[in-house]
Amino acid sequence: MTTPATLGPRSGWWQDAVIYQVYPRSFADGDGDGVGDLAGLQEHLPYIAALGVNGIWITPFQPSPQIDQGYDVSDYCGVDPLFGTMEQFDDLLDAAHGLGLRIILDVVPNHCSSEHPLFQAALAAGPGSPERGMFHFEDGHNAGTPPNNWQSVFGGAAWSRANPGSDTDRQWYLHLFSPEQPDWNWRNPAVGDYFEDVLRFWLDKGVDGLRIDVAHALFKAEGLPDTASTGTVVNGLRSNPQVSDQEEVHEVYRRWRRLTDAYTPERILVGEVNLEPDRAARYTRPDEMHQAFAFAFVKLDWDAAAWAAVGTELEAARRVHGAPPTWALENHDITRSVTRFGGGERGVSRARAGLLTILGLPGGAYIYQGQELNLPDVEVPLGARADPMWARGGVSRDGARVPLPWTTVPDGSYGFSPSSDADPWLPVPASWGTHSVEAHRQDPQSTLHFVRETLRLRGQLIEKEIFTPGDACEWRVEENGLLICARGNQVLVAVAMGDKPCRLPAGDVLLASAPLTPEGLLPPDSAAWILQS
Ligand code: NOJ
Repeated sequence: MTTPATLGPRSGWWQDAVIYQVYPRSFADGDGDGVGDLAGLQEHLPYIAALGVNGIWITPFQPSPQIDQGYDVSDYCGVDPLFGTMEQFDDLLDAAHGLGLRIILDVVPNHCSSEHPLFQAALAAGPGSPERGMFHFEDGHNAGTPPNNWQSVFGGAAWSRANPGSDTDRQWYLHLFSPEQPDWNWRNPAVGDYFEDVLRFWLDKGVDGLRIDVAHALFKAEGLPDTASTGTVVNGLRSNPQVSDQEEVHEVYRRWRRLTDAYTPERILVGEVNLEPDRAARYTRPDEMHQAFAFAFVKLDWDAAAWAAVGTELEAARRVHGAPPTWALENHDITRSVTRFGGGERGVSRARAGLLTILGLPGGAYIYQGQELNLPDVEVPLGARADPMWARGGVSRDGARVPLPWTTVPDGSYGFSPSSDADPWLPVPASWGTHSVEAHRQDPQSTLHFVRETLRLRGQLIEKEIFTPGDACEWRVEENGLLICARGNQVLVAVAMGDKPCRLPAGDVLLASAPLTPEGLLPPDSAAWILQS
């Protein structure tokens, strides 16, 4: 086990950490099969370190049939050969720590793969067996309909027959996502014990944190009652209160917090808690998780009033529960911000301003791979779409998952794969070279350079204690759609969200996402950090 070299065992490191999210199959392909892997990630660790981030969150690389790109895990304590070996992971962890980068891994405790040995054992053991008690197996209704009316997030019923051909086995099993992702039954204590071993396995190896997938959905309402909700299904499952935010789930995170607290240096839990700010903040009470993504913020359009309202709500929740929000504008499940904010040059300016904004706010922040390159969402050709949500629900998240372009060389993948013979697992657009790392390196005004500069300045402000994680945030909207977040007593984060240049409040402009106008105004679609005198 190694300790991050440059950061040392500083406790509370996570409170203002910036973490870079790696979606391994799309980051860099080391072995030339068209799918990114651990070797590719290791090769480019210096690139990530040079950004100035504090760590990396790696989405699942454990053995999996890859129905949901790894979020269908068949062995929680292994490495899928598609991505490499356990030895390579150990080397990667050491190399990352040597560069001062923490490593956060994904844990998927709501469901596993239908290929998981315990689910296979449950299928074989039959109704009423302890093996089936690890999952939600229930009898259907007489007419052969599922046990209740819950819908899967990916579309269709949330139940599938255990043994479709059988006359004797009339049971169904629950899957909030695809049928290949059966839900664990968290009311069975054996499930909690199983996951404690999984967590220990990775923590003992020396990983610095765990990102908890669908953290608010582990417990289902007692008795699995029908839902009255017919609301739109979103990844956060909010349309079905019977599967979301049940009080019992907090005991799981208290147990996991006791577990992580026993490790030195400090390890963290970060939750995918896709709930409104006041509910999500309850998952980061002092004895639960360290961080939960501020999802209410992730979904916002380019609208000053909406940002101020959600920012104010998050601040109110922080005051009650203590932990600052954890900021993000992108991840592998949502449309990239350049596209969400209008696309083209305008989308790029806004995405860059958005990044400067979240990096100026108190709390941790996550940057999704490619955000530093202004990657737009891609309209992936229909036949190439790989997201199970596309096949079942007609919504594709593939556009945010296209392999990263490393060079300007039109070799089929712009340097993602070492060989031009390999077809990248999702096709890359012909324009991808202009977004590549190489193109950004050559342009001193590029967003890649801008992100590095922003993180360098952020580090200095943290060192001087001008930025402290406990800073309060006061949000307001001024004339011409100028959004202001007054952070602590000294810094203002200003974002011009209207269509006219804005006069800035008094103070020194420390950094801006675009040059000010000759009159010293902040142009539309840009942001600035201002140090007040
Ligand atoms: C959230 C993950 O980010 C997403 O990619 C996945 O499909 C679902 N959880 C199910 O695991």
